[in-house]
Amino acid sequence: MGSALDRHVALVGFMGAGKTTVARELAQRTNLNVSQVDRSIEHQAGRSVVELFAEGEQVFRTYEEHVVQTTLLSRRRLVVDLGGGAVTSPLVRGALLERAITVWLDVDVDTCWERVRGSDRPLAQDEAEFRRLYDERLPLYRETADVVAHDIDDVVLAAAGVHVERGALGRLGSLVPGEGAVSLVSDAYVAGIHGMDAQLALGSRLAETHEVPSGEEAKTLAAVDRLWQQLRLDRRGTIVALGGGCTTDAAGYAASAYLRGVAWVPVPTSLVAQVDAAIGGKTGVDLPQGKNLVGAFHWPALTAIDPALLATLPEAQRREGMSEVVKTGLLAGEPLWELPDDELVRRCAAFKAAVCLRDPRDEGERAILNLGHTFAHALEAAAGYEGVTHGRAVALGLLAALRLSGRDTGQVEEILRPKPVRVERERAWQAMQRDKKAVGGELRLVLLGDDGPRWNVAVPADDVRRELERLIA
Ligand SMILES: NC(=O)c1ccc[n+]([C@@H]2O[C@H](COP(=O)([O-])OP(=O)(O)OC[C@H]3O[C@@H](n4cnc5c(N)ncnc54)[C@H](O)[C@@H]3O)[C@@H](O)[C@H]2O)c1
Ligand SMILES: [Zn+2]
Repeated sequence: MGSALDRHVALVGFMGAGKTTVARELAQRTNLNVSQVDRSIEHQAGRSVVELFAEGEQVFRTYEEHVVQTTLLSRRRLVVDLGGGAVTSPLVRGALLERAITVWLDVDVDTCWERVRGSDRPLAQDEAEFRRLYDERLPLYRETADVVAHDIDDVVLAAAGVHVERGALGRLGSLVPGEGAVSLVSDAYVAGIHGMDAQLALGSRLAETHEVPSGEEAKTLAAVDRLWQQLRLDRRGTIVALGGGCTTDAAGYAASAYLRGVAWVPVPTSLVAQVDAAIGGKTGVDLPQGKNLVGAFHWPALTAIDPALLATLPEAQRREGMSEVVKTGLLAGEPLWELPDDELVRRCAAFKAAVCLRDPRDEGERAILNLGHTFAHALEAAAGYEGVTHGRAVALGLLAALRLSGRDTGQVEEILRPKPVRVERERAWQAMQRDKKAVGGELRLVLLGDDGPRWNVAVPADDVRRELERLIA
């Protein structure tokens, strides 16, 4: 069992559930290609679906089995849009189980009927028969699906292998993919609060538990080396990382190289980790020379997010996360910070997941996730990484980015209440120029345009410096 990205995304659901529309939207959000099974069948058979059904449903189903099986063998990751009855075939169900993340678009029968009545679909000519078929298929969708989706964000999250559910921690045993042994990694503090629940949920899958230091101390080669030496998993095993972003970054990096790479499942417990750090497959550790200088792209087999775990998070840690939430809302163009926790986490996670699916190796668009961060890093560096937390620095950085984008800062000020920091101005400016290698009197920043975020925008150094100075007390 490798990463979630090794599997196709298969959409199942009844006639009229909107699979084709959702498939198109998912493709747009993730840059994946869509394969429409019904169209491939028509292409291969040289006849329309209606004509094939006229020859008998079994003729159609035989083509369908063949097309689904060959489509799922494609090396290129696809969004596979399946016909409503495809799951009636055990061969199709078996192929989906092996090669796809199967997403069930769960839509009620009344809505489905409203959408398809009057169409030429062979199985939608009689309402009573349509409803009977719906009831008959329901258990099959339930059985086949890895994920039940109600909107496009649910589908994007499924495509990224991200599972957001209140109570997910208690279901960890059934959520962790594969059959191999599990090694549970967390820091002592989080282990003390949530470790026992995780152990109980993992049950007989759990082979060993390990501790990493709390905070950035976990993100050192020494800590990862200790973990490597303690691990007893074989290659079929999975590392489950329960904790904040420091734990998931370090344990994910350990997983990327242990036995040349084993599967891993982050279970983020801080707000920072649930909306940001545990999504997108970046793992790594720090060097004395700087943060995150050694690492790997290692996409998880699954990311299990349980918003209920935030209840035990100290207020200061919650504020750290809110800066990233506000950043995400600004990028998405929606006040996501106003939502209740479960929805806030789900929407923010879905936004980051989509960006990372479009740019998994951080070669382009993913840079937008650094909105405000160039300023933040300069302030943190000028403070010698003490006394100025990342969240506070990001809150200030967002102010500067908004001002340079010609945007109002009222919302950020109201929610994050950023206070200017006491650091040396010249030191902050030096750090900023080092970070961005100012070329020809300009720096490259992420700004918000009228049609969404833009990255690599050239901004005159004088303007950047002026905005940086406003963040310093
Ligand atoms: N990989 C990425 O894409 C990415 C993205 C953003 C941030 N990060 C990294 O994430 C790290 C910061 O993550 P963080 O803010 O979660 O720090 P963290 O892991 O140190 O956790 C913060 C503190 O909160 C405690 N904690 C966590 N969950 C808790 C809970 N539910 N109840 C009580 N206490 C809890 C932890 O023990 C710790 O003391 C940084 O190293 C940053 O570089 C990585
Ligand atoms: Zn950040």
